[in-house]
Amino acid sequence: MAQDTLTVTDNRTQQTYTLPIEHGTVRAMDLRQIKTGPDDFGLMTYDPAFMNTASCRSSITFIDGDRGILRYRGYPIEVLAEHCTFLEVAYLLLFGDLPTQHELKEWVGEITHHTMLHETTKKFMEGFRYNAHPMAMLVSTVAALSTVYPEAKDIHDPANRLLQSKRLIAKIPSIAALAYRHSVGFPYVYPDNDLSYAENFMNMLWKMVEPKYVANPVLARALDILFILHADHEQNCSANAMRCVGSSHADPYLTTAAAAAALSGPLHGGANEEVLKMLDEIGSKENVLAYIKKIKEGHGKLMGFGHRVYKNYDPRAKVIKWTAERVFEVTGRNPKLDIALELERIALEDDYFIKRKLYPNVDFYSGIIYQAMGFRPEMFTALFAIPRTVGWLAQWQEMLNDQEQKIARPRQVWTGPEVRQFVPLGKRSPVAAAR
Ligand code: SDX
Repeated sequence: MAQDTLTVTDNRTQQTYTLPIEHGTVRAMDLRQIKTGPDDFGLMTYDPAFMNTASCRSSITFIDGDRGILRYRGYPIEVLAEHCTFLEVAYLLLFGDLPTQHELKEWVGEITHHTMLHETTKKFMEGFRYNAHPMAMLVSTVAALSTVYPEAKDIHDPANRLLQSKRLIAKIPSIAALAYRHSVGFPYVYPDNDLSYAENFMNMLWKMVEPKYVANPVLARALDILFILHADHEQNCSANAMRCVGSSHADPYLTTAAAAAALSGPLHGGANEEVLKMLDEIGSKENVLAYIKKIKEGHGKLMGFGHRVYKNYDPRAKVIKWTAERVFEVTGRNPKLDIALELERIALEDDYFIKRKLYPNVDFYSGIIYQAMGFRPEMFTALFAIPRTVGWLAQWQEMLNDQEQKIARPRQVWTGPEVRQFVPLGKRSPVAAAR
């Protein structure tokens, strides 16, 4: 029977090595034995952007990019989006199993009772400029929570990790809502414990002078589904940031702030905001062909298209498209949907995109729904960060519990000069290259 091994010959020495293959990988450290002599450090792998490197073992989220499959703890995302609430899925991601009715009731009660922000946190946020970007406010404020809960530094205590995780899951919507209210000059709305997670978020965003906010149930359910779809996505850029920063044993607030900072980038979670700007720039269906021509000539990227893992349709985009129709039945159709649908139709028939396996990703349609619900584009990434906080925390917990993990510290390929002779300050001549 074929062995699960890889046999390689180093042609520099004619030495042959047999390396074990496990889970479709060879251990990078097994390459270190391949040397040209006793002073040789040994072989490393070189993999910019980790295109082909597994950094961990995980049982949280499974993606099959070629078949467009996404599962949380083994459950297909479509099934969870249809039958669960976001907090039910949050429980699944964090604890590994769907909760019983009693467990869910307890869990929802615990999260609900952590939604308040300390008054000093509210004052901290009031210090931002009126036009501060909500993601910059969110990242800074999540980090600032580290000053409110200094005991969070004890990351070795599982009960403490769980308490801080509940606080983060509960408070991230309050922070995002406060950032929005600050940007429009409205007073902060305190949480209402009678409301669900999504309804309370809408309450903190949109309650005006009415005695009690009543959320539109269709929009609340749409938000809940969008939160489920965005909750985790395996080892994406921000999950990698969460694991890397968490591996130094930083507290969960500073670690989550680092992950949120990674998410804010336009190639990652910031893409949904960029999609709306792109659709605004295109302006009408008639302009789509010319815009695609520009992209194919190398001028920019089609925002909301393409994915490092999905080389098929992002399964989340399909559910989001279905959700969009439900939202538009309430809010009225967002005319940008027609531009997006035309963009998708043309791109999916065009060889440039087919050859590169570029399909709509989770960000392509989410912004159109958010805008129809009344969110401004600069709020879109904060809407991504709210549910993804659960995924980051699940990845963080798994990393801390993984005996194989230690502080992340990659190596490098040195491309600089050999040792150089020092020249005293007065004797140095200008180096043109340094200008
Ligand atoms: C998210 O990783 C995750 O799981 C992320 C995420 C999550 O849930 O956490 O799914 C969320 O971040 C979704 C992606 C959102 N970003 C965007 O929509 C921005 C636009 N997309 C691209 O920037 C790009 O597709 C990436 C960043 C998403 C993926 O980039 P890769 O895997 O590094 O691919 P690449 O840049 O090497 O592209 C391969 C080729 C290149 O062409 P060639 O050099 O071979 O000629 O495809 C082209 C790229 O130029 N290409 C695109 C394109 N994306 C890639 N061309 C036009 N438009 C695009 N969107």
